[in-house]
Amino acid sequence: MSIRETRILLSDIEHPESPTLDFYLSGGGYKALEKALKEMTPKQVVDEVTKAKVRGRGGAGFEAGRKWQFLPKNNTKPVYLTCNADESEPGTFKDRHIMERRPHLLIEGCLITCYAIGAKTGYIYVRGEFPQAQASLSSAVEEARAKNLLGPDILGTGVSIDIWVHTGAGAYICGEETGMLSSIEGGRGHPKLKPPFPAVEGLFRCPTVVNNVETLSNVPFVIREGADAFLKLGTADTPGTRIFCVSGHVEKPGVFEYECGVNLKDVIAAAGGVWKGRKLKAVIPGGASAHVLLPHEIDVACDFGSLAKAGTIMGSCGVVVIDDTTCMVETLQNVLEFFAHESCGQCTPCREGTGWARKIVTRIEAGKGTMADIDRLYEVADNFEGMGGKTICALSDAAAWPTKSYVKKFRQEFEEHVRLGRCPMKGA
Ligand SMILES: Cc1cc2nc3c(=O)[nH]c(=O)nc-3n(C[C@H](O)[C@H](O)[C@H](O)COP(=O)(O)O)c2cc1C
Repeated sequence: MSIRETRILLSDIEHPESPTLDFYLSGGGYKALEKALKEMTPKQVVDEVTKAKVRGRGGAGFEAGRKWQFLPKNNTKPVYLTCNADESEPGTFKDRHIMERRPHLLIEGCLITCYAIGAKTGYIYVRGEFPQAQASLSSAVEEARAKNLLGPDILGTGVSIDIWVHTGAGAYICGEETGMLSSIEGGRGHPKLKPPFPAVEGLFRCPTVVNNVETLSNVPFVIREGADAFLKLGTADTPGTRIFCVSGHVEKPGVFEYECGVNLKDVIAAAGGVWKGRKLKAVIPGGASAHVLLPHEIDVACDFGSLAKAGTIMGSCGVVVIDDTTCMVETLQNVLEFFAHESCGQCTPCREGTGWARKIVTRIEAGKGTMADIDRLYEVADNFEGMGGKTICALSDAAAWPTKSYVKKFRQEFEEHVRLGRCPMKGA
């Protein structure tokens, strides 16, 4: 089925003036901020976002409004908003487009959220490798400040909120929310044990909301158009749209915004399908940490619930298409190189386990593995899958899920490497 984009986040991103304040204002920009500050109480804003069931777009899909309600009542400490703009999940490049092309949309979302949660300060933590996004956001902050949309006494309402663009140094672990908080505090990007969750004790040990760029960029629409308009988009499980980052072996890679619930097969077809007339071998639906899907498994609706039922995750919506000339052992080797390199090293199962898994898969790919190595690879991954409380954060799960699914679904290919003593894709 052919599908059409519904753009509420990426509207007009191709326009050369799209990052500027004048262009954003000409399309109704900052009207939602004005409405929130002048016509709504903070509680009404929280209620509207809660009603809209805006699920977190950073990976886990937790509802933003519910998260905001976890902030302690009768709190006397400062409250912070931290926007997670680390976007390090391989195959994911959606937040970058918002920050580079529609920085004011994100800033407006941050300001409304700060107002709703009672924060006077918000940080946008931008991945170190995104100089253009940093520049675009920094100049948008200054433009907004000059127009009294940000800073003291915004639009004469008596509300004062400041937003700081904070640059990371390029580490996947700083995308994990507590790793990000450690980094903003000036320490190493080491995740912290939860509980306490950031809403109770986060940045500088104060109540803190952490939300992803895309999550916060939905807030202006919800406030301007109302929760009911948002609920009309997408599915009951995941209302709204999502930005799909389609890459790998497709004819037209790029970002596409569709209503949630769109079929994964149609998303791939809309990106031109598998390139060079080749056959599809596998699809990673939600970033490198997702369980891989086989061709017969991609007739699935893209929302959090449907993809979970299909045994994988919607995650960051990084859709990577893999054609039939690709070696899945080498692909897993590549994935594990990344996770082993990015493990912060605090937890033994993750630090040692991701390293062992990388060594085993490297051995198999080089044709030097044994049949026992294949089971060992699966067992090691099973051991460092941390959800049972073995590790502080979920990086180890992010490494375990692809490992287990590749071994399970492509076992024959792993065995062929052992039997032939070389990678079958690389010839004799
Ligand atoms: C290892 C690791 C890396 C992560 N990287 C990111 C990231 O780059 N961007 C992001 O928004 N969330 C990332 N997350 C998820 C965050 O911890 C957090 O759940 C998210 O920022 C919350 O925002 P949301 O509720 O709006 O999705 C990561 C999680 C883990 C375990």
